[in-house]
Amino acid sequence: MALDNGIEITWLGHSTFKIAHDGQTMLIDPWVTSNPVCPDEHKTFERIDTILVTHGHGDHFADCLSLAKQYQSIVVCNFEIYQWLEKRGHRSCQPMNKGGSIEVNGVRVSMTNAFHSSSITEDDGSITYAGEPAGFVIEFRNRFKIYAAGDTCLFGDMALIGEMYDPDIAFLPIGDRFTMNPKSAAKAAELLGVKAVIPCHYGTFPPLTGTPDELIDLVESIGVEVFALAPGETLK
Ligand code: NI
Ligand code: MN
Repeated sequence: MALDNGIEITWLGHSTFKIAHDGQTMLIDPWVTSNPVCPDEHKTFERIDTILVTHGHGDHFADCLSLAKQYQSIVVCNFEIYQWLEKRGHRSCQPMNKGGSIEVNGVRVSMTNAFHSSSITEDDGSITYAGEPAGFVIEFRNRFKIYAAGDTCLFGDMALIGEMYDPDIAFLPIGDRFTMNPKSAAKAAELLGVKAVIPCHYGTFPPLTGTPDELIDLVESIGVEVFALAPGETLK
């Protein structure tokens, strides 16, 4: 499995991705401590420069505050999650919202739409509004572009994301029940016009039943390559 462009993508299981680029580390949707499929050796880090958060659910956000404080990471998130983090003492956030793009640590980050829900469950069990869920398009210095869909159903405007941002690879949820399944992820890949997909948000728990094999069967004919990584595996 090869990217051969200096960027290394490691899937930490579920929707958590670690991306090494330009001597830096970016984390998407940090959930490692209680993530049942994240290998133990991937629960600690040498550095985390940037954290991207798609929404407030625990399986995407549980380790955000502690990791951001420990590594003094810049957290890119929506306005509501920014306020939540700031209230709890993390001051290095870059709040944004859908449609916007920012430069952070030499990377261009654009926030895109996603159809899902979003909230933060507090330690006492109460539920805090966390704004709307989102996806991201991430453009690295070498122009390589990733679309990380976050948790979402299939939506037709993924064609617009393809047209406006032209991503090279997409991280798409395939687990079903809470997100797209392989059939809708295959359609998403077609709408986005991507050449490659890394499937995520499957297999973590028994109810997330979608499999990469189902996706592979559906996209082979349209020339989309599926990189089905094992948790902890790196695509270089
Ligand atoms: Ni979610
Ligand atoms: Mn989720």
